[in-house]
Amino acid sequence: MKAPVRVAVTGAAGQIGYALLFRIAAGDMLGPDQPVILHLLEITPALPALQGVVMELNDCAFPTLAGVVATDDVNVAFKDVDYALLVGARPRGPGMERKDLLEANGAIFGPQGKALNDHAKRDVRVLVVGNPANTNALIAQQNAPDLDPKCFTAMVRLDHNRALSQLAEKTGAHTTDIKKVTIWGNHSSTQYPDLHQTSVKGKPALEQIDQAWYESDFIPTVQQRGAAIIKARGASSAASAASAAIDHMRDWALGTAEGDWVSMGIPSDGSYGIEPGVIFGYPVTVKDGKYAIVQGLEINAFSQARIDATNKELREERAGVEHLFAK
Ligand code: NAD
Ligand code: LMR
Repeated sequence: MKAPVRVAVTGAAGQIGYALLFRIAAGDMLGPDQPVILHLLEITPALPALQGVVMELNDCAFPTLAGVVATDDVNVAFKDVDYALLVGARPRGPGMERKDLLEANGAIFGPQGKALNDHAKRDVRVLVVGNPANTNALIAQQNAPDLDPKCFTAMVRLDHNRALSQLAEKTGAHTTDIKKVTIWGNHSSTQYPDLHQTSVKGKPALEQIDQAWYESDFIPTVQQRGAAIIKARGASSAASAASAAIDHMRDWALGTAEGDWVSMGIPSDGSYGIEPGVIFGYPVTVKDGKYAIVQGLEINAFSQARIDATNKELREERAGVEHLFAK
């Protein structure tokens, strides 16, 4: 067994928290040889419920669970953490767009960014799940001037996995037969699920589906999947979101598979014409714990128009929250 690492999870008594903590504690995120000490943050009224979750975590007797810290103090929650999954935020209800949550949730991520800045390990890996995830990640990043901006990422992996699942169903393949799907941009209805580089069983995906299905069925289904789940379940996705968070962090820590890539919301660096200043969904590979944007992909006019639309939305969201950035 390796030395334990510290993993913070905010909103730990919520729906996603309940689906996430047991898998992290069981070793699904960092491997069966990596013990974890969980740092669980909740708001004060949720502490009794959180205590119940801690009791259950202990009752699992996981070999990889090396300790649990449960707190309502953000400075305690982020002390010396190696990983931070920022989940705690209000979910949207029927009829809302994720950006409608900016007002309610934006205020959470400034103080959390500052606490990470002051207390976390210098190479902390931060994943923002709470919506609107990309812009919340930007707020946290902009309140953490002493950390590398690349420490802050947002989750588009659920969209990536949804795209795999839709395409697998359509082509009669398994999700593991599909390589090189990209989610560009925002975790919102402007996101662009791109199949131009995708293969299914080694052959181009776009040769195995028709353009009408791609444009009028696949893209809107992936874009609107979160809303469809809210409609069906009466609550936003939880187990699939938790699973995507595990995938995102596992690949960031342990690396991506040869010959494939994953989608991560990461700080834009000018690649593909996205000026710095937003957290943008990109195709990335990870090696030795560092992510890198896949370069040199050909972007046709169809794709460019959609990348521009999601970039525009992220810039607008950014303009609405700049007052929350540290001076
Ligand atoms: P939930 O309401 O069940 O749980 C949220 C928890 O966060 C609650 O227990 C609440 O007490 C806690 N919380 C609120 N403010 C907090 C704070 N300042 N510090 C610590 N904890 C705090 O919601 P959920 O279903 O678990 O969803 C959580 C968030 O994840 C929502 O914003 C939702 O929209 C988002 N989400 C994102 C994705 C994605 O793909 N990025 C997918 C699903 C859900
Ligand atoms: C999702 O994509 O399921 C989440 O972001 C929840 C939502 O509001 O859609």
